[in-house]
Amino acid sequence: MLKVISYIGIAVLCVSMLAWRVAPQFKAIQPEIASVQELASSVLPALTKVQKRFPNEYKNYFGAEVNAEVAEEALTLGRDVYVAEGCWNCHTQWVRENDQNFNWGKPSEIQEVRHELMLPSLIGNRRVGPDLFRLADRQSLDWHAPHLIKPSTTSPGTVMPAYPWLFEKESSLDTWTIIPKKKGLALMIYLDGLGRWEPSEELTTKIKSEERSKAESFTIAIYLAVIGAYGLLMFLSIKRGDASRRNSSRLTL
Ligand code: HEC
Repeated sequence: MLKVISYIGIAVLCVSMLAWRVAPQFKAIQPEIASVQELASSVLPALTKVQKRFPNEYKNYFGAEVNAEVAEEALTLGRDVYVAEGCWNCHTQWVRENDQNFNWGKPSEIQEVRHELMLPSLIGNRRVGPDLFRLADRQSLDWHAPHLIKPSTTSPGTVMPAYPWLFEKESSLDTWTIIPKKKGLALMIYLDGLGRWEPSEELTTKIKSEERSKAESFTIAIYLAVIGAYGLLMFLSIKRGDASRRNSSRLTL
């Protein structure tokens, strides 16, 4: 009888802990995420840089102003080109702690990837080329443009494919005439904007506490699973003990 009561007690304890901490994870949680509009103002230096280097094209495609609205449009288009051209097949956007030997910048933080441009997630899982997360300021536009038109001009022997269709046909690397199309310009703004976004303190705190509670729930789930497995083993060994006692008593008769 005592045994049954203790089993019921453990079961109730487990179920209540499960319901309290783990069950909310299965609800449709709306994670904290920044809109493109929110990150647009941090990326204005990338726009200014592109406007200075390609003033005519910038004016034709985005107008005379450098503002958050243009940044939003350019970043969204640039991200779409990045996805459509399959850049994510060879590049990651997440600097790990142990990547420091590569000079790819300081390690990425969770709040830096919680924004709409990371939908779909572009963290990536294959590194044929370098990580691009903190690309901003690592390369100039006069490096990016020829590299995209013909990668071997800046990086002899590279396996990166060429993307000449992002530039007008009249572009020529011999005469240093480079005329980006709207998609090419937007891609360069996107690339130069990477790593520039600084999430607000409020958002950072929210995201971190969300992540912490997820990690806690996971730990508790593991903890419950271990208790459950231990209980099951105990139960089976008691059963086996009963059976062998029955057998041995049969023998003595
Ligand atoms: C087949 C794999 C592959 C694909 C696809 C690819 N790249 Fe690369 N990329 C590389 C490799 C390898 C390098 C390093 C050598 C070099 O500079 O070309 C590189 C280098 C780069 C660099 C320089 C990074 C640095 O730290 O100096 C940038 C920027 C870049 N790629 C952007 C892109 C973009 C944008 C696309 C899509 C339009 C793209 N790559 C598609 C393989 C790839």
